[in-house]
Amino acid sequence: MPLRRLLVATGNKGKLREFKAILEGIVEVVSPDEIGLEIRDVEEGIDYAENASAKAGVYVKDFDGLICGEDSGLEIDVLDGRPGPLSARYGGEDLPHPEKCRKILEELKDVALYDRTARFRATIVLIDADKVETFEGVLEGWIGFEYKGTEGFGYDPVFIPQGFSRTNAELGMVIKNRISHRAKAIRKLAEHLKREES
Ligand code: IMP
Repeated sequence: MPLRRLLVATGNKGKLREFKAILEGIVEVVSPDEIGLEIRDVEEGIDYAENASAKAGVYVKDFDGLICGEDSGLEIDVLDGRPGPLSARYGGEDLPHPEKCRKILEELKDVALYDRTARFRATIVLIDADKVETFEGVLEGWIGFEYKGTEGFGYDPVFIPQGFSRTNAELGMVIKNRISHRAKAIRKLAEHLKREES
């Protein structure tokens, strides 16, 4: 039997690769541009699940199959959870991520190691006809003192995951994709899809 198709509502190639790797053999993952749909940006609010479902919702009329949206962010305890769902726009939408990272290092310059705790959070919303399911993944860690590493994206050069002494950007994609917030959420989605099949 052919696999069901899952449209992942993202234009981010890195995210798409993670979905394809983890869901291989369970569903056929496609992105909007792979099936001739345009990438549509949605206005993002302050709630991950709302943002994720808005990202998926824009394709409901155009796609007859499973659709999911994902939203993620970095939460820094000493900044009361900021930048959170506004991570992509922290310091201004046009501020490149290396500058966003430096802004955070500056904001935390007088903060001691034990107060630098932070986490990445990812929420996936799956729309399956008239059913909506939500899956979440969290990666705990802390903000380092320096910008380090060249792999990954976003805040990876300043985030050190729990149990490691190097940043996500130093650890590289193989390790990151095993432990990341998004990988955890996608694995929960995978389990759900497998249960639905059986
Ligand atoms: P989204 O694409 O609207 O969900 O924005 C997510 C934002 O959160 C990204 O632009 C980054 O700023 C941050 N972020 C989410 N996941 C990661 C990650 O795995 N590494 C680094 N930054 C991340």
